[in-house]
Amino acid sequence: MVFYFSGTGNSKYVAEQIANYINDKIIPINDLIKNNKESMFKSEASLIFVVPTYAWRIPKIVEQWIRKTKFEGNNDVYFILTCGGSVGNAGFYAKKLCKETGLNFRGLAPIIMPENYLAMFPTPDKYQCQTIIEKSKPYTEILAKLIQKGEGFPESKVSLIGRLQSSIINMIFYPIFVKDKGFTVSNDCISCNKCALNCPLNNIELISGKPVWKGNCTHCMACIACCPTEAIEYKSTSKGRHRHYIME
Ligand SMILES: Cc1cc2nc3c(=O)[nH]c(=O)nc-3n(C[C@H](O)[C@H](O)[C@H](O)COP(=O)(O)O)c2cc1C
Ligand code: SF4
Ligand code: SF4
Repeated sequence: MVFYFSGTGNSKYVAEQIANYINDKIIPINDLIKNNKESMFKSEASLIFVVPTYAWRIPKIVEQWIRKTKFEGNNDVYFILTCGGSVGNAGFYAKKLCKETGLNFRGLAPIIMPENYLAMFPTPDKYQCQTIIEKSKPYTEILAKLIQKGEGFPESKVSLIGRLQSSIINMIFYPIFVKDKGFTVSNDCISCNKCALNCPLNNIELISGKPVWKGNCTHCMACIACCPTEAIEYKSTSKGRHRHYIME
C-alpha cells in the first residue's frame, strides 16, 4: 500500500512510480486529512510512505496522521522522502515513530526532486526541474526493487549538521517560520478557487472572490504554486521564483 502526502506533486509523482512498479494501490493522505477522515487500513503488503521533507524530517502533519491511523496486517514500513537536497537525520525520527506506533521500520531513503519551498529558498527553473525529475527515475526504481524483494533500505551515515538540522532546527522551524501571514494576493486573481481546493488543510476560503488564509498552514506551497495567474506571493521572498507544480 503506497501512501503519499504532497504539496506540489513531487511525492505524488514518486509514489505513482513506486506503485506502478510494485503493482500496489496508492492512497492520497492529502484527501484523508482534508476530509478529516479517521482511517483504518488492512494490508498484506508492506506500507510505503512517500512524503516531502520538511525541515529535515517527515512533515509534522504526516506524523500526526500516522499516529492516529490504525494499520492492520503487514506492519513493515518504508519511508521515501522527496527532498530538495538533504533529509538530515530523518531516518532516526521515522524509526522512533514506528517504535511508538507498533510499526516495523524497514528504512528511509531520500529522492532528490525539485526544491519547492519558494517561500524560503530559490527554486529551479522549469528546465532544471525536468532534468532533476529525469535523474530521480533510476533511483526510484532501485528503491522499488528493494521493496519488492522485501529488503530494507540501506542506512546512510548522518553528519553532525544533519543531526542538528533534524533536531534543534526542526523544533524551532515550525513555530518561527510556518505561518500563513506572509501570503498575499494581487489583482491578478481570477477567483478560480484552485488555491482553496488544493489546500490539504482547508486553510483557504474565498471571500469576495479572493483567498483568505485562516491560520492553520503547514507551508506545503500548494496554494502559491498552483495559482494559474501567479497572483499569490509570500512576502517578497517568492517574487520571480519558478512555481513548480505537478499535482494535476
Ligand atoms: C516547508 C518545507 C520545508 C522543506 N524542508 C526541506 C528540507 O529540510 N530538506 C530538503 O532537502 N528539502 C526541503 N524542502 C523541499 C521539499 O521537501 C521538496 O521540494 C519536496 O520534493 C516537495 O514535495 P511535494 O511536491 O510532494 O510537496 C522543504 C519544502 C517545504 C515546503
Ligand atoms: S488560485 Fe490564484 S487565481 Fe485562483 S482563486 Fe486562488 S489566488 Fe485567485
Ligand atoms: S495555506 Fe497554502 S501553504 Fe498553507 S497548507 Fe494550505 S495550501 Fe499549503
